[in-house]
Amino acid sequence: MIEVDHVYKIFDGKEVLQDVSTSYDAGIINMIIGSSGSGKTVLLKCIVGLLHPDKGSVLYDNRNFTNMNYRDQKKVRLEIGMLFQGAALFNSMTVFENISFPLKMFSNKTPKEVQMRVESCLERVNLEMKVAELYPSEISGGMQKRVGIARAIVNQPKYLFYDEPNSGLDPKTSRVIDKLIKDITNDLNTTTIINSHDMKSVFEIADNVVFIHDGKKWWDGNPDEIDDSKNAELLQMMDASGREIQSD
Ligand SMILES: Nc1ncnc2c1ncn2[C@@H]1O[C@H](COP(=O)(O)OP(=O)(O)O)[C@@H](O)[C@H]1O
Ligand SMILES: [Mg+2]
Repeated sequence: MIEVDHVYKIFDGKEVLQDVSTSYDAGIINMIIGSSGSGKTVLLKCIVGLLHPDKGSVLYDNRNFTNMNYRDQKKVRLEIGMLFQGAALFNSMTVFENISFPLKMFSNKTPKEVQMRVESCLERVNLEMKVAELYPSEISGGMQKRVGIARAIVNQPKYLFYDEPNSGLDPKTSRVIDKLIKDITNDLNTTTIINSHDMKSVFEIADNVVFIHDGKKWWDGNPDEIDDSKNAELLQMMDASGREIQSD
């Protein structure tokens, strides 16, 4: 379980996050939604420690990550896997080198163990072994996301984060990636947080939704409660994406 406790983040005197408190359970899909610029990525970066909150703290299974010393923080970081927006693969490395990169950085595995782990991660994301020798530029956007997910899970993380996993994907591929993320969460019982503005994903896979508006937690609940939420900004966001949902 991850808890965000009264987190603030200030840039240039502006409160980009204002008193955000949320919690995320393991084994379910937690989604942070909100329009562009609302603060989703900043919140995710505060959670994973890429940004330090100006006030408040983040707890990983009751461990106060924000206020811990560097050595303890490093231990928690080893339990984290992340898919960055746009997959962020290393273009000069093969798929195999991309996926094995965190293993080589953070573990002392033998080449044989690395090979086996990469193979099992490729299998987990439904990619064939022959893809391992290709470069990111030689595979499709959907395959790149799969490789990004394989890299995120290679260290067998307890906590998995995805920033806009569907950005740049067509609706059909988005649904396949959604299902993959959900299956991995169920299989590995990870605490999973997804940043998204894809409302279709919310209704397809989310179990818990946190709506961020203007840097504040504006609403939270499960997707079934959205229609009756009486939250004008949330409903407006749903309406804006409703046309898109019906048209594909
Ligand atoms: N490093 C930064 N320095 C200054 N402002 C930032 C920085 N990162 C994000 N912001 C601002 O914070 C706000 C929220 O951004 P972000 O979290 O990226 O939004 P989104 O919900 O689209 O992910 C935006 O106004 C953005 O310009
Ligand atoms: Mg973002």
